[in-house]
Amino acid sequence: MKIAHVASEVYPFSKTGGLADVVGTLPSRLSELGSDVSVFSPAYGSVLSRRKGSLSSLYKSWAEVGDNVYEFDILTVKEGRVDYYFFYNEFFFNRDGIYGNAQGDFSDNILRYYAFCKAVLNFVLSNNSHYDIIHCHDWQTSFIPMLIKDKQIRSPKVFFSIHNLAFQGVTDEKVLTELGIDRSYFHMECLEYFGRVNFLKSAIVLSDIIGTVSPSYSREILSKEFGFGLDGILRKYRDKIVGILNGIDYILWDPETDKYIYKQYSIENLNGKEENKRYFANEFGFEAENPLFVIVSRLTHQKGMDLVIKALKRGAFAGASLFVLGDGDESFCRSLKNFSDNSDDVFFLRGFRESLSRRVYASGDFYLMPSIFEPCGISQMISMRYGTLPIARATGGLKDTVMDVSRKNGYGLVFEEANITKFIDKIEEAKRIFEKKERLADFRIRAMKNDFSWKKSAKEYLDVYSDMLRG
Ligand code: ADP
Ligand code: GLC
Repeated sequence: MKIAHVASEVYPFSKTGGLADVVGTLPSRLSELGSDVSVFSPAYGSVLSRRKGSLSSLYKSWAEVGDNVYEFDILTVKEGRVDYYFFYNEFFFNRDGIYGNAQGDFSDNILRYYAFCKAVLNFVLSNNSHYDIIHCHDWQTSFIPMLIKDKQIRSPKVFFSIHNLAFQGVTDEKVLTELGIDRSYFHMECLEYFGRVNFLKSAIVLSDIIGTVSPSYSREILSKEFGFGLDGILRKYRDKIVGILNGIDYILWDPETDKYIYKQYSIENLNGKEENKRYFANEFGFEAENPLFVIVSRLTHQKGMDLVIKALKRGAFAGASLFVLGDGDESFCRSLKNFSDNSDDVFFLRGFRESLSRRVYASGDFYLMPSIFEPCGISQMISMRYGTLPIARATGGLKDTVMDVSRKNGYGLVFEEANITKFIDKIEEAKRIFEKKERLADFRIRAMKNDFSWKKSAKEYLDVYSDMLRG
């Protein structure tokens, strides 16, 4: 089976969050199961600066958009069995930042990704190599189902993954003229959304299959609370929705071989984890004997940052330390900086730093993830792989991956309501667990014994692709 993944980010070439982790791993797991897999993504500055030497430029593609024609150079590289195609257009992708910069999101993101998708499709369809499945990820690729429909072709079939329904590619109606999109799509059952244009909505309508990144999220998005205005259309198409749990790359994220952490460790040798904490505490001036709570995240409402700030204000981390690595909403960053500047036990580091994130996962005792909604969540799986117990709200993929310690074989701390008292109760419970070293070690081992690798989920994707080709 020949499969094309199209996405706006892919690890290790470009990354702002879990989407990159997924597109960075699933294709290679699919190829190990015998499929022929390619990944199509933009050639941002980060891709070029990191990989320029290993990329070769063999092909070109183009996109007609309104009255303009944009040219793309295609840079290719093969890693393992996967072929990567990076699409470069100077005007669209030679900038600092992926979706935006310090001033905010780029104002032409819809144009950038529309042109990218058109160029990808022109290449895929003209390359003489027939793809069976085109797997699109998130709103940046939501144009593809419509572009395929335009061409009136029955193949490739489109699998569309929703990683986060909060982002939909919504804009004014005038975009139809600017991009040259046929007005026949602009009606309530397709692109139209309260008088505006919603590209994700058209992808929901026109794709063959819709995927969500956890089973729980596939059910939640049918409700008003989690549907972000699209629950009605999702309910209409519920028969083509499948929920498949994300995994993480167990080779890439492995405390036994991770060369960025202070000291490697494993289930058999958890003392190494303690050593990481001691080095880390030393580096950032924490008291190593206290419990260490950590966060590596986008700092947004989705991630429950309001609860974290409230917990700080109520002194919930007394007798403990909190380390936050992340970037995001200005107001959360300001509050965190304020606590960090005024306390020895709180440290906030603003930025996106992968190697540091590994030391954080390895050194923490508890990982905070009080998300308001969470399509899947990659961070809690990484933290468990490193024996750091997640404190998570029961929503989306967190529900499917974190089991409360009160349950048989549980290993995490789970609370139901997005409520500060419930969150602080769990922080207090974590501090008590921390005092009982044997219990703590047992829970860590249970967390580490979980299998969140892609083994099962990659097979599930292949089964769905096969059904699509039969159907
Ligand atoms: P989301 O995609 O919603 O941001 P996920 O939990 O699915 O959340 O994935 C987040 C990914 O991004 C994880 O791999 C996490 O380690 C990484 N990450 C988030 N913030 C940072 C940061 N500031 N520095 C390094 N890695 C980060
Ligand atoms: C999105 C979601 C996150 C998910 C990731 C990868 O960014 O917010 O929950 O893990 O996509 O699917």
